[in-house]
Amino acid sequence: MFERVCIVGVGFMGGSFALALKERYPQCQIFGIDINHSAISKALELKTIDGGSTQIKDTLRFDPQLVVIATPVGTFEEIAKALAQLDIKCVITDLGSVKGRIVYMMEEHLGGNFVGGHPIAGTEKSGVENSLKDLFKGKRCVITPTEKTSPQAKKMVKDLWQSLDALVEEMDPYLHDYIFGAVSHMPHAVAFALIDAIARLSKDGVNLFEYPGGGFKDFTRIASSDPIMWRDIFLENAENIVKAIEVFQESLDTLKSLIVSGKAYEITQYLSKAKELRDRIV
Ligand code: NAI
Repeated sequence: MFERVCIVGVGFMGGSFALALKERYPQCQIFGIDINHSAISKALELKTIDGGSTQIKDTLRFDPQLVVIATPVGTFEEIAKALAQLDIKCVITDLGSVKGRIVYMMEEHLGGNFVGGHPIAGTEKSGVENSLKDLFKGKRCVITPTEKTSPQAKKMVKDLWQSLDALVEEMDPYLHDYIFGAVSHMPHAVAFALIDAIARLSKDGVNLFEYPGGGFKDFTRIASSDPIMWRDIFLENAENIVKAIEVFQESLDTLKSLIVSGKAYEITQYLSKAKELRDRIV
């Protein structure tokens, strides 16, 4: 089914996608484009890709059936413009964490052959050397077709994710950003801010980072994520993230005032409700 796929951005996600594709379609040739020469040479060395270039214009030479954009979301517009200029006719999708405005912007440049996608799978690691071939297996993958999306392009992208054992869900691009602004982007902001708070609480020769408990490590694992990737997500989904942070601040204020006023019963109620909701997550 797939013989030539081009991946723009050969980092953790692009590399994981390439490995998954190679396992499922061993005959498929994968061409990587990355502005970072060392990402291309590492990916070639690891045999994650079969060929590569730092020049997006080389996409044309490879004549792909599918282009997958796997760069930080702040680069999407320049990539869409470059692909449009090359007059690429094949289906184009992405792995970006923000959809909403981006999907409509991509469509303006690329037309109905663009299908937005966001695999809900990842880690705090970046770079092709950390790629995982089984990353998408059994994981949800949200696709965000619009009324402009070509039905054939949508089918191709949907079938592809299903063939990689992902659980495909269609969603409105803006609803996607509301949901993931709350359950993914805001928690990342909180983890980064928690590290900042611990740094500021370290004083007078007491380095609090020398005493990390299991909970602290679990909670802050995602603060090791790539700053450029997260800067782009925060800027692109700012409205939803700011609203979610405000709601979180209210929740924290409620807990804080219960602690300040020493209301043991109410604190137990608050924590029990949170535990019950958390325990329901599968
Ligand atoms: P990464 O930092 O591992 O890889 C990004 C790659 O893109 C790097 O090799 C970089 O050199 C390259 N790049 C940057 N600008 C470029 C440009 N203009 N042209 C070509 N290449 C360029 O990042 P990662 O984790 O692979 O993330 C990629 C995308 O996947 C992001 O949009 C992110 O939001 C999304 N995503 C990430 C997840 C994660 O857990 N890491 C999960 C789901 C989505």
